[in-house]
Amino acid sequence: MKNLIAINGSPRKNWNTAQLLQHAVQGAKDAGATAEIVNLYALNFKGCTSCFACKLKNRPHGTCAMKDDLSPVLEKIKAADAIIFGSPIYFMNLSAGMIAFIERLFFSNYIYSNEIPTVFPKKLPSAFIYTMNMTENHFEFFGMKERLGMYETFTEKILGVAPKVLRAFNTVQFKDYSRYESSIFDADEKFAYREKHFPDDCAAAYNIGRDLVSE
Ligand SMILES: Cc1cc2nc3c(=O)[nH]c(=O)nc-3n(C[C@H](O)[C@H](O)[C@H](O)COP(=O)(O)O)c2cc1C
Repeated sequence: MKNLIAINGSPRKNWNTAQLLQHAVQGAKDAGATAEIVNLYALNFKGCTSCFACKLKNRPHGTCAMKDDLSPVLEKIKAADAIIFGSPIYFMNLSAGMIAFIERLFFSNYIYSNEIPTVFPKKLPSAFIYTMNMTENHFEFFGMKERLGMYETFTEKILGVAPKVLRAFNTVQFKDYSRYESSIFDADEKFAYREKHFPDDCAAAYNIGRDLVSE
């Protein structure tokens, strides 16, 4: 039986990013796989501390020497059949938690070798699911495709397969916009957009989960 691990890079366990991951997990389960969500912000861990233990010549490569809550997750990923990186966009980038996670996963499986840079034990199908306030027009205007594309390129390099990508735009951030200083947003427009588009995003996430374990 195949296994999918969905990484939630939002501190919120039930909002936009998590909801899309829940659909992806359901898609994987309906395709006969096991699947689970790992909430990064429930774990106590740091990003890479540049110790380079993973690159020592006299030591096996591919294992991060830092020992914390992320260690068992990194081991589990080696045994998984697919992974999804789910992240909200924070200041035009992945969330800090997701970046710290990627540093640990990718750097420990990367060596500065002229031959083959990755020591990840197999090809691992993956996907990035991004959620953000921005509209699709803003995403293009600010060059976000290229910016986030860096992570997608590293993923292909380390995990051996180009990731699938889903972008959920113009997400609803608060249940009640009137409680927050938020005059740059038109709450009615936000809720109308969500009603129209979020079900399609959920369906696309479901398909990603299903397809990742079916290929
Ligand atoms: C610290 C912080 C920074 C953010 N920066 C951006 C940003 O640069 N661009 C954007 O489109 N949305 C930004 N957002 C909005 C979130 O990306 C958006 O609401 C996302 O869907 C939240 O995901 P969640 O509901 O799963 O937590 C930011 C939110 C926070 C909390």
